[in-house]
Amino acid sequence: AQAYKIAVLPGDGIGPEVMAEALRVLDAIEKKYQVTFERTHANVGGAGIDNEGKALPETTVSICRASDAILFGSVGGPKWETLPPDEQPERGALLPLRKIFGLYANLRPAIIFPSLTGASSLKEEVIGGGFNVLVIRELTGGIYFSQPKGIEGSGRDRIGVDTMRYSVPEIERIAHVAFQAARKRGKKVCSIDKANVLSSSVLWREIVTTIAKEYPDVELSHMYVDNAAMQLVRWPKQFDVILCENMFGDILSDEAAMLTGSLGMLPSASLAEGSFGMYEPSGGSAPDIAGQGIANPIAQILSAGMMLRFSFGMVEAADAIDNAVATVLDQGFRTRDIYQKKAGEKLVNTKEIGDAVIAAL
Ligand code: NAD
Ligand code: IPM
Ligand code: MN
Repeated sequence: AQAYKIAVLPGDGIGPEVMAEALRVLDAIEKKYQVTFERTHANVGGAGIDNEGKALPETTVSICRASDAILFGSVGGPKWETLPPDEQPERGALLPLRKIFGLYANLRPAIIFPSLTGASSLKEEVIGGGFNVLVIRELTGGIYFSQPKGIEGSGRDRIGVDTMRYSVPEIERIAHVAFQAARKRGKKVCSIDKANVLSSSVLWREIVTTIAKEYPDVELSHMYVDNAAMQLVRWPKQFDVILCENMFGDILSDEAAMLTGSLGMLPSASLAEGSFGMYEPSGGSAPDIAGQGIANPIAQILSAGMMLRFSFGMVEAADAIDNAVATVLDQGFRTRDIYQKKAGEKLVNTKEIGDAVIAAL
């Protein structure tokens, strides 16, 4: 049987809770599709700090290097927020992982499942008939990574500095990802920027427009990020692929997530050149609900599905996971974040969603 190596990095907060369900779903896929997933668990984030003294231990990086893909939970939490910024889970582990493995293309598909229209924060008239938005977020550049960065000076003279830089090749490669994705779906790309203020956005708009000429079958539009934030809640159906630089994509993808009912529904794939990728929910470690077994594991389960689709080419198995999740939602299973107290809904915990997805498979 075909075998794939997965580095399993559950991380902090709800990370291990939702990861457990995704791994059980992978067990079910192994049985159904005669495939083996060789999993190696490693510490990351707060778990790395607590168990091995740093957020991204070398052993974790080696395990990732030796794997075909990384399945990531989430990192961070109040316990580690007083450490120096570069040692914290986010800047000490998550961002370095993205950089080390060249994961420049972050795909965050926000799809409203038909039975969840009532869980969206938008009115049913706005959501009715569904929407399907793919946020493509540049993940290794922009204000997250550009130099200079840091706090300069001392006392009241200190200045906090971040810099937003984008090179032409960085914009070109993420633009290609967006146009190629759009070609396989609604054939529209809306590129988000702040070209009325930011120079990096002026270049972004110019380069995206140039790349668009290679994709005459795809319609390109541009939108300022402030307007985009408004348009997403006004009429999300106008969008197909939304192409963003790193920070705009971070913000707009959380907003898009809520349109689908919960941040706990939104998976993501962070892709490098080639087939390697890291797969993680778009949301975080949810310290407010961690340890209670009530987190929604669907984003983590769908992220595992994206791993099968993008890194392993297991399209049929990935579709099976997506369909199983849809079935479970149609059957009325709801964690607290998507529970509407409507007839036919069953309020369940994290593990019961896992059970239901496995049964539906
Ligand atoms: P968060 O995404 O952890 O939580 C925001 C809200 O969404 C919370 O109310 C939470 O309960 C809810 N939520 C998120 N995922 C959920 C799920 N699966 N099921 C049910 N509810 C869910 O964001 P935050 O509170 O701003 O950040 C908490 C910590 O997570 C911080 O340390 C932050 O840096 C970190 N974080 C990590 C990642 C990551 O590892 N990829 C992403 C975002 C935030
Ligand atoms: C995300 C998270 C991260 C980001 C944080 C935790 C560094 O919010 O994956 O969306 O901003 O990229
Ligand atoms: Mn985010």
